[in-house]
Formats: sequence, structure tokens, C-alpha cells
Amino acid sequence: MNFNFDTVIDRMKSSSVKWDGAEALFGEKDLLPLWVADMDFKVPEEVSQAIADKAAHGIFGYTIRDDSYYQSIIDWMKTRHDWTVEKDWICHSPGVVTALSLAVQAYTQPGDKIIVQPPVYYPFMKVTETNDREVVFNPIVNNHGTYEMDFEDLLSKIDSSVKMLMLCNPHNPGGFVWKKEDLKRLGDICMEHRILVVSDEIHSDLVFEKGSHIPFASLSEQFAENSITCTAPSKTFNLAGLQTSNIIIPNEELREKFNAETERNAIGMPNSFGPVATEAAYTHGGPWLDEVLSYVEGNLKFVKNYFAENVPSLKVLPLEATYLAWIDCTELGMTAEELEMFFLTKAHVALNQGKVFGPGGEGFVRMNLACSRSIVERAVKQIENAIDSLPV
Ligand SMILES: Cc1ncc(COP(=O)(O)O)c(C=O)c1O
Repeated sequence: MNFNFDTVIDRMKSSSVKWDGAEALFGEKDLLPLWVADMDFKVPEEVSQAIADKAAHGIFGYTIRDDSYYQSIIDWMKTRHDWTVEKDWICHSPGVVTALSLAVQAYTQPGDKIIVQPPVYYPFMKVTETNDREVVFNPIVNNHGTYEMDFEDLLSKIDSSVKMLMLCNPHNPGGFVWKKEDLKRLGDICMEHRILVVSDEIHSDLVFEKGSHIPFASLSEQFAENSITCTAPSKTFNLAGLQTSNIIIPNEELREKFNAETERNAIGMPNSFGPVATEAAYTHGGPWLDEVLSYVEGNLKFVKNYFAENVPSLKVLPLEATYLAWIDCTELGMTAEELEMFFLTKAHVALNQGKVFGPGGEGFVRMNLACSRSIVERAVKQIENAIDSLPV
């Protein structure tokens, strides 16, 4: 290991949503925060250096994206995902959630239906509803810990009002990569019914088996023409606060519509630090990322073994992607509300409650493992003690 992820870095009083924001959000003091998806690790040195160099320049005027910025994205997509991306396809958005909302506005009308596959990242539902579109659930099916798409259900939900499907690829929560056959079948169905695929691939770099993520648009030219792909260095390199994401849109007409929406909202210009950090991360961050992934895998193994030995009522599902463990707590027999209060007031850990991810999420929690091992150890012990204190 060339990087030390064991060191605990104090994030309190750093304006961190995860640490400083937990008490206000959850209404409890002294919570160990393993919720929102950012890492407690420092970014690669080259990224800090690029930001420091920019800061040292001391002038933060209006900013453009240099050719080298685009090239770093193109090279990353090719080497990590064997996906050939052209410079012209790369559009911009501050965040991926912003891009999802822009896509809803650009490609659908109020009253249109948008399919999502719960349990899924809850802003998929939120951006649909806040834009006055209708959410249609096509739940994924938990087959003994392995999730599958339900194509029968999908076909039964499609009518002429369905205009878009939001794909989470890899999937969050659940942390798995979609197989080629599933993506192909999904893509074919969407082509046939003229449903645009918005593929959120923000977690695509966070896969434990190198090369296992398949960009939806890489599967065929038709799929590329019938989709937009949301990417960002934010999850991969812990840069969420820099608000920089890249939306890859091969289809010219779709691209123009997306860019028109960006312009209408006047959000096309980057901040001064996002592009330099992104370029440094994509250019130099590979070795750092590989070590983060093996550290997180170690954390996952630790939690899995610990619960199997000491808290068998909690089952950690297999994880192929993301640093977010998905834990089945249904054996505790609690309602979603009881489960939430149990983790907050008895275990004093802040986790994401499964219920917020929509149907199929109830009885589960999502635990962020992108932190030092000692924090994970504290969390599982606190959970074990809380379970032991439950009346039998
Ligand atoms: C699937 C997915 N999309 C988007 C985001 C957030 O993206 P952003 O911070 O760029 O809006 C997350 C964060 O956890 C996520 O899991």
C-alpha cells in the first residue's frame, strides 16, 4: 500500500454535510456518520497540488475548460471502460443530480411518465416529481441477495406516456454492476418503445473487478444514440464539493436540447477548481483509486465477517461496485421507522435508511465504507451492543 487510509482525519468543523450536518439532519448528537456517499479519505496528492497551484495563482475569474481537460476524460473512459468517447459528446453540469433534472426538463413534458427501478438512488424520484412528471416503478427483484431486472413488469408498465427510463449503472443501493444481457434487453425494449435511457454511471469507476462495468452507450450505436450518460469524478475521487460532472451525449439532437437547458438555467460555466482537479484526478489518480478499492473491499470483508460471527441477524449483501454496503435487517422484525430510531438512538450510527430508496428498500440500511477501518470497527461494535440490548 502506497497510501495510508487507516489515519482518521478529523472532518468536524470542515463544513462537511456528512459530519457537521448529521446532528441537524438526524436530530441526535454523537452519531458516527456512515451515510451520505463521500469518502473520509484525502484525495490523490496530484489533485490537491493542482488545486493548490490554482489557489496560489490568486485569480479566480471566469473559467474555460481546456483541451487537456477533455482529453483526460476521453483517456479515462478508454482505459478504464474501453469506451471511445468524442470530445464533442462531452457536455457539462455542476452535479449529476442537476443533470438528471436538466434531462427531465429537456426531454419530457409535465405529465409524462419516467420509469425508475427501485430500490434506487432517491433523487431519481425526486427530480421526476419536482418537475411534475410521474414516477413509474419497475422494482428490481432480490433473488437471494442478487438483484435482477423484472422485464415482464417493465413491459406491463410501458404505455405511450412513458418517455424516459433512469438507469442506475452500477446500481445504488445494492452496489452491483448490470450484466451485458440485462442492459441489452433493457436497451432493446427502450428502443422499441421510444423511451430515452438516462444512464447514471457516477459509480462506474468504483468496481471491485476491473473492467466489469459496461457503459450502456458502449453496447451499440443505437443505444448510444438513444441515451445520455452521466459521469463525474466526484464519487471516484472524493470531489463532490467541486460540483463538476460530465454528461456524455453522442446524439447531436439530444445534445443540443441538453445544452439549451443548461443555457436556459445559466449553469454552463465551471468553477475555477473543478476542471483542474478533474484533469489531475483522471490523469494521475488511477493508482490511488485502485488502493481505495482494495481498502474498501477490506472494510467490507471485515463487516461481513463481524456480523456473520457476532450479529447474524444482519446480512451484508454481496458488493460488486460502490463503497456502500447494503445490509438486510429484516430479521430484526422492525418497521422502517423502528429501524431508523434503533440505529440513531441505540447504535448511534447515521446510516441511509432503505425506505428512502423506494419500494424494496424497507428493512435495509446502506452503510458507507469509505472510511478508516477503526471507524468501521467502532460502528459494528456500537451496532452489536445495541442489538444485544434489545429485549429478547
Ligand atoms: C447514483 C447517484 N447519482 C448521483 C449522485 C450524486 O451526484 P452529484 O453529487 O453529482 O449530484 C449520487 C450520490 O451518491 C449517486 O449515488
